[in-house]
Amino acid sequence: MPTSHIHHEERGQGQAVVLVHGFPLDRRIFAAQLESLSANHRLITVDLPGFGKSAAMGPFSMQSLADAVHEHLKSIGALPCVLGGLSMGGYVALPFARTYAADLRGLTLIDTRAEADTAEGKTNRDRMIESARKHGVGAIVDAMFPKLMTEANVRADPALGARLREIMQSQNVEVLCNALAAMRDREDFIPILPQIKTPTLIIVGAHDAITPLDFAQRMHDGLPRSWLATIEGSGHIPTMEKPQRSNEAIARFLREI
Ligand code: MLT
Repeated sequence: MPTSHIHHEERGQGQAVVLVHGFPLDRRIFAAQLESLSANHRLITVDLPGFGKSAAMGPFSMQSLADAVHEHLKSIGALPCVLGGLSMGGYVALPFARTYAADLRGLTLIDTRAEADTAEGKTNRDRMIESARKHGVGAIVDAMFPKLMTEANVRADPALGARLREIMQSQNVEVLCNALAAMRDREDFIPILPQIKTPTLIIVGAHDAITPLDFAQRMHDGLPRSWLATIEGSGHIPTMEKPQRSNEAIARFLREI
């Protein structure tokens, strides 16, 4: 029985492949991966503490989230695993890879970055916390929605945009404020990348407005065993915007490692 705060969904059998969502989202951004990649693997999508259906655990850091995910995976017999993280999920996957290398068979870093926030980035986090405390989750949704998916993808499939908006809107405002503070205070992983020897697939949407290609390229340069896949036609959330292309890239990586 799981002992942690974490809620997860899983499907399929074989090597455990775990996906960790970004901000301000939850496991539902990986619905298409759960469906498709579970044909050959034990696919697990988690809600980080306080997100989606997981219970909150008070203020946290990216390292404490990595520890909570590790504890949960241990309790459900899902180690060693291949771990994937999208954006904030990548900020969690990096400390996981540093601390629990022996429990990792592979790493997938999706539309994320290794750098810490810049001074300007930290100020923006504080502004967003203030605005969320004053106006609620809607303030975060309004600020972030246009940066997550490309306008073209939302125009072509309005239901897709509505689904993303619904996921964002359903999160707990206090947890989002804690997450903004934890992202603001996260450490710089650029100097640590050369120590991460786990085979790593880096995925980036060609039109990502938050963590564009040069962030992906710097992770690729720093990681000793990495591959870089660009997803054409996608913004920051390729798992929803271009699920088939994302699934193909991940499936190819899983076959190779
Ligand atoms: C995310 O998608 O998880 C966030 O946009 C990451 C960030 O704000 O740094």
